[in-house]
Amino acid sequence: MNMVSVCFVCLGNICRSPTAEGVMRRLVADAGLVERIGVDSAGTGDWHIGEAPDERARQAAGRRGYDLSALRARQIDAGDFGRFDLVVAMDDANVTALHRVCPPAQREKIRLLMDFAPQAGSRVVADPYFGGAAGFEAVLDQCEAACAGLLDELRARLAG
Ligand code: 4NP
Repeated sequence: MNMVSVCFVCLGNICRSPTAEGVMRRLVADAGLVERIGVDSAGTGDWHIGEAPDERARQAAGRRGYDLSALRARQIDAGDFGRFDLVVAMDDANVTALHRVCPPAQREKIRLLMDFAPQAGSRVVADPYFGGAAGFEAVLDQCEAACAGLLDELRARLAG
């Protein structure tokens, strides 16, 4: 049985990418595809390695029924590009940082999350870390829209 896997990437792996991971894990579970679709997240930076997601991200996600408490931050490495079919970044700075660690042959695996929700009208998921609560709600809205589109893409890959 074939599998596909995705790794979400932001700067710290404590706000945006764990939120995307939590949203995607629920969509995958609801679709009955836990055995077929692997989901993970990582940061391009090393400041928060080993930490649980930001309290504000956990609270906001929790209010929508996503439990991020078991997640721990880690840093992306070159080997991840061999392990994942897609490496999905939140913003352009993440893409630039990913290009620096990605083996050249695997660069086509790097995508922007919001490419999977063209109808949402935003190219990137903005960093909520230095802002207020509204930023975390916006991240959740964007992750919910884009992860639904991403699930469609992964289903197509499984079928193809
Ligand atoms: P994230 O947010 O990239 O969505 O996890 C950030 C977390 C930490 C920092 C910046 C952004 N920081 O500067 O420590």
